[in-house]
Amino acid sequence: MSELNGRNFLRALFHVGQRMLRSGVSDQLLEDAITALVDAAKMLTAGSEEVVLSVARDAFYLDRKMLAHASTEFHSLLKAMDRRKIDSVTILSGATRRDLADLAALVVGKSSDLPAEGTVRVNDRALAVSDLDMRPMSGLRKSYGDSLDALRGVRDTRTLQLGEVLSVVDGFIAGSGGDPGSSLIMATVHNHDEITYYHSVNVCLLSMALGRFIGLSTDQTRLLGLSALLHDVGRVVVDEAALQRDGRLSNEDWAQVRLHPQEGALAIMAASGPGQELAAAVALEHHVRMDGGGYPSLEGRHPALFSRLVAIIDAYDAITSHRPYRPARTPNEALRVLLEGAGTIHDPDLLRLFIEMMGHYPPGSLLRLPGGEVAMVVPGEDEAVAAVVVREADGGSPAQPRRIVVGAGDVAAQLLPDEAGIDPGSLLELVEQEEHARR
Ligand SMILES: [Fe+2]
Repeated sequence: MSELNGRNFLRALFHVGQRMLRSGVSDQLLEDAITALVDAAKMLTAGSEEVVLSVARDAFYLDRKMLAHASTEFHSLLKAMDRRKIDSVTILSGATRRDLADLAALVVGKSSDLPAEGTVRVNDRALAVSDLDMRPMSGLRKSYGDSLDALRGVRDTRTLQLGEVLSVVDGFIAGSGGDPGSSLIMATVHNHDEITYYHSVNVCLLSMALGRFIGLSTDQTRLLGLSALLHDVGRVVVDEAALQRDGRLSNEDWAQVRLHPQEGALAIMAASGPGQELAAAVALEHHVRMDGGGYPSLEGRHPALFSRLVAIIDAYDAITSHRPYRPARTPNEALRVLLEGAGTIHDPDLLRLFIEMMGHYPPGSLLRLPGGEVAMVVPGEDEAVAAVVVREADGGSPAQPRRIVVGAGDVAAQLLPDEAGIDPGSLLELVEQEEHARR
């Protein structure tokens, strides 16, 4: 039993729930999602008679261990379970397809009960909160989950409430305490299933960090965060399937994609609330280049400041993320690619400030050390680059995550999570554990 299996189970449960809500009737996609859930349950219970998943204080726990990353990714699942007063789920080895599907239906409110004697049982275990490995859920993580949910809400309800989105942004401001470093770490979360949503949240976090760095006031930073979170909202309202298809886009898909700036601006203007005009401008202009290229045409007019800023962050997050048709690149490589477009694609002054903020090894970078260990850069207290060892020289996970200071000659190579064979979620878990242990 591992935390990764716990997370995979929750992901599968989340997908079945989403399918049930969207299709309502049984269809092949739903059947496939249930099959994946059965497989995930098998992996989760392998080698034990039963496994208990609990929900307490805004987090999932697998037996007693907190699943911090999954609590962010599947925050809506967490909230749904909380709403239905589900505190624990016991999954027996050999859990049946039917019981697992019933669990998903119960969680999303499509059924009201599970048999007490089934292979999946709800609330049959009363784990005292004090038994759990409680770590405070970082405010930033919670806000990350809330903002993913806000975008899922726009998709599901086709309505946009700017006030609600702003309150999510306020959560970020409170959660990061104005420290861009922790935002940079969170922005290394890249999920493959909901690319647009994770991308939007990352662009929001990094844009606000850069906004603070260039001296914007808190009020301006809020509106920048709102605009950044919604920059691709046009993608949420156009055909998602076209945008997430594997491989290159067909001409038709491409035409569809090119409409997302206008679609987004229209959706924002149709909503009401503070920051509407700024956000609509960013949605409309974030693919316009400094030389007037890109799309749509602004007929010679330059994009506004927020649009130019978000365009840089948008490109940075896209380059450092894995896409079905190309691999991700390291933060340093991404900064180099951006520099090639200074003045033509991007605003050169803002770009220079962005590179200055990111530093040589931005938080979230993975470094291979000369001894063979792998460490992830975390926000340091002073000028020195601090990192947490996430992989020992022999390839094993560290028994206790430990913090080191990285000197100038200490880096053998920069790596990507894929290259290191490490799941970004488990990286964040390790970094959080280390932080918690130090307090
Ligand atoms: Fe876009």
